[in-house]
Amino acid sequence: MTLVLGIESTCDDTGCAVVRDGVEILSNVVSSQIDIHNAFGGVVPELASRHHIDIIIPVIQKALEDANVTLDDIGLFAVAKGPGLIGSLLIGLNAAKALAFATKKPFVGVNHVEAHLYAAMMPAIEKLVFPLLGVVISGGHTFLARIDAIGEYTIIGTTVDDAIGEAFDKAAKIMGLPYPGGPEIEKLAINGDSSRYDFKPSKIKGRPFDFSFSGLKTKVLYTVKGQSSQMKSPLIIEESDKKHVAAAFQEAAFSDIIAKASLALEKYPDINGIVFGGGVTNNDAIRDIVAKKFPETPVFWPARALTQDNAAMIAGLGYHHYSQEGDALDLEPMTRLALEDLDNTYNKK
Ligand code: KG4
Ligand code: ZN
Repeated sequence: MTLVLGIESTCDDTGCAVVRDGVEILSNVVSSQIDIHNAFGGVVPELASRHHIDIIIPVIQKALEDANVTLDDIGLFAVAKGPGLIGSLLIGLNAAKALAFATKKPFVGVNHVEAHLYAAMMPAIEKLVFPLLGVVISGGHTFLARIDAIGEYTIIGTTVDDAIGEAFDKAAKIMGLPYPGGPEIEKLAINGDSSRYDFKPSKIKGRPFDFSFSGLKTKVLYTVKGQSSQMKSPLIIEESDKKHVAAAFQEAAFSDIIAKASLALEKYPDINGIVFGGGVTNNDAIRDIVAKKFPETPVFWPARALTQDNAAMIAGLGYHHYSQEGDALDLEPMTRLALEDLDNTYNKK
């Protein structure tokens, strides 16, 4: 039996969790910074890292307390080594290293985006039949990957510009909605009529599995502020039209994800199911669309508490990622997601 203490600090959430044997969540503490960044319409990296410093020790203490364990009970420290903001990453990484050094226990750095996929697989880990199709839809990433095992991935397609969550946030900002924009767009779209606007997903010539969301965002900008307008230009649509824009945007973005996921299932007929990860999985509309589109396919979604950034998915994945010695204490943060880093990472070490 191994208790893993996981730490997450890649962006604007400070998280710590204690997870038993990769699956059983004993505690999962997340301190959100949304109120701090909201006033600026997006995450301010310098403020994010300062807040991580202030809050990380209390968050770790609370996670130990909630799990009713002490540091002595922890067998492994896991931390999100990236991708993310450099200042934010350094706080979690150094906290994990310090804990491992002080307690003489191993530590391991895991990939945050891989952990988003693990969040959905965690409760079903015993029952999973590989290969699976992984679909990451988050604030920073959008990609499709073939999953042959935990730790064995082949990237099928990715975005050439904005991530889907980023597009939601930008479209919301254009309409003057608060940050983060995803939940705001979802709320508005419920009462909107998507057929009022003709928004289409972008196609990239010769790259059927890759995404591009930047054109869709520009389409929203020109629709609500006029042709060749800028972010700061005033709205030319009625307040009551925002819901239709939101519905049309959301439908275009999700139909793109679904179409490319379907194509991937056609290309790899041996794939047994789909695993979704990332903050956009919080959206009920995409869960409904997927249920209708793939009625026969096993689909795995993260539990609600694990859709957004959290440390339970880091601790859970850390358990699988750990290979005897763990990582060395000079492990560097990884600000960008190198897709090749995910391609067949640690099983091939
Ligand atoms: O996975 P995450 O925490 O960030 C990264 O790891 O990059 O996801 C945050 C993203 C934000 O872009 C946010 O707007 C989006 O997830 N999001 C949503 C919803 N809730 C969060 N997007 C659409 N609908 C939602 N309900
Ligand atoms: Zn994330």
